[in-house]
Amino acid sequence: MKRIGVLTGGGDAPGLNAVIRGLTLALEGVEVLGIEDGYLGLVERRVRPLDRAAVAGIEAEGGTMLGATNRVSPLNYQGRDWSSDVACYARELGLDGVVAIGGDGTMAIASALHAGGLPTIGLPKTIDNDIACVERSLGFDTAVATVTEALERSHTTGASHGRVMLVETMGRTAGWLALEAGLAGAADIILLPEIDFDLDAIAAVCAARTAHRGNALICVAEGAKPRGGEMTFRGLVAGAPEPQRLGGVAEKVARALGARLQCEVRATVLGHVQRGGAPSPGDRLLGTLLGETGATMALADLWGSMVTYEGGRIGAAPLADVAGRTRRVPLGHHLLACARHIGVSLGEADAMISAPKSG
Ligand code: F6P
Repeated sequence: MKRIGVLTGGGDAPGLNAVIRGLTLALEGVEVLGIEDGYLGLVERRVRPLDRAAVAGIEAEGGTMLGATNRVSPLNYQGRDWSSDVACYARELGLDGVVAIGGDGTMAIASALHAGGLPTIGLPKTIDNDIACVERSLGFDTAVATVTEALERSHTTGASHGRVMLVETMGRTAGWLALEAGLAGAADIILLPEIDFDLDAIAAVCAARTAHRGNALICVAEGAKPRGGEMTFRGLVAGAPEPQRLGGVAEKVARALGARLQCEVRATVLGHVQRGGAPSPGDRLLGTLLGETGATMALADLWGSMVTYEGGRIGAAPLADVAGRTRRVPLGHHLLACARHIGVSLGEADAMISAPKSG
């Protein structure tokens, strides 16, 4: 009988439990072992059996029932490479392979472990939506809804007080979350890592909007940076595969705007609320589909692959081809054109200040 391991790597995202459930149900008749706390469970030899009863009703729950960590890579943990140890542990467990659910960091590790003799399959998850060959990663839909709601709430309080309100999103070096939520939440200005912003241009748009409507709303991605400037980091996570943590750009922009404008400016950093909570129906559906696809691939021994999602279709690509690649917003993307067309500023210096919108 086949025996398959599953882990959730990196930061969590809404919908992970739906993947675990979909995979376990589709592997009926196969032994499924849940690996605890991502790759750390492989290093520390912590697994538990999963079956139909263990995953009943979890599709609507946030987080991951298996635990996750974005601080540990078996390729470099406590000063050494644990690849052969984890491959040996997997053999001892009798695993045919491991299905790793995660972002680009998790995929890069899965690719390296696969090359080192531990068969792996990758399933794409991240609220950042920045995985190569995946146009909709698990968790993104829920995060867009969360940020959109935060923008709407910021708008009403900003309107009451006649303020410029900034909402800072996650997303690392990709602006997908800020772009989609900014459009859905009717932000006046959307600042992305892909387009360096100009503070004078932002101030001019805010002045025009506040003169017309009394308030203005800005959605800023944590990786956005000023022209000629740097991204804003809030700290380092020692020992993590990707130690740098972004954060704080909204406060910086708020201070700079406060000095240029007559009205008050306030910044809100949404932080981990974007990753928490129950998954949207879309993420429950995508999670179930990803889990079922991962199971089908594991049963067919298609190890060394990551499930892709392009043009609305599920497919597969070699892990080695996607690992380490980041998918950012292309400058010719239709949503950028849409934003400019409806008068949303992207913080560009040379953009004309469009007629104030009423929305
Ligand atoms: O990659 C997901 C993500 O939420 C990023 O958007 C964010 O920059 C980072 O993880 C935060 O990591 P942590 O949970 O370690 O603070």
